[in-house]
Amino acid sequence: MRVRSISTVLIVSFVALGAYAVEAGGPLWPKAGVVSGANALQTVAPSPEAKSVLAAIRGYSGWPHFAENVKPKRSLAHNGMWVLVFHNDVVTRAVAKRQLPLPEGSLLVKENRFEPTGKVALLTVMSKQHGRWFWLEVVPAQGAGEPQVVKAGGTAIEGFRAQACAGCHEQNVDNDGVFSHPFAEE
Ligand code: HEC
Repeated sequence: MRVRSISTVLIVSFVALGAYAVEAGGPLWPKAGVVSGANALQTVAPSPEAKSVLAAIRGYSGWPHFAENVKPKRSLAHNGMWVLVFHNDVVTRAVAKRQLPLPEGSLLVKENRFEPTGKVALLTVMSKQHGRWFWLEVVPAQGAGEPQVVKAGGTAIEGFRAQACAGCHEQNVDNDGVFSHPFAEE
């Protein structure tokens, strides 16, 4: 099996979460019920690049799931939240062909909740563009507004260089940075 061991992921996750917990300018992940103060989530309007990713994932809740994650499960890393991953048809074909790395246009959308059936607190997105992952973390749209990008340590969590995301996912480089489904497994 190519996916790195869960324990490696957990160790890195504690390091990563610890680092962001003390960072000024907002945490990477929200804490349930914390709406003000240093531990409250900070957000900023999406850039044009983030807006085009948000446009591309419109309707994602009708997309398929990986067989490993058909209903919300407790995350090993994303703040212990309840997570549910959706993917587009480009990824569906890559699953069938056991294709690595994932092709241009691949989209992975993960819903993050505090409770298995609660409302979606965060969306974390991976979008394959020009052979690289574009990372994005947003608070879903409230009412008529648009989704807002999470700001951690003063930096908007969007783009190809979002180390807060890539630094952990890179552990799984043999599986193109994806944890939820091993593409090349027999
Ligand atoms: C500390 C490690 C860690 C960090 C930091 C992290 N992730 Fe993940 N991510 C995971 C793990 C582990 C999974 C597999 C499902 C689970 O347990 O949550 C995952 C799953 C995902 C998925 C579903 C596809 C997959 O790889 O399984 C997306 C999309 C995603 N993460 C996006 C992000 C984004 C965007 C960020 C930055 C805001 C981020 N992740 C930060 C560990 C991490």
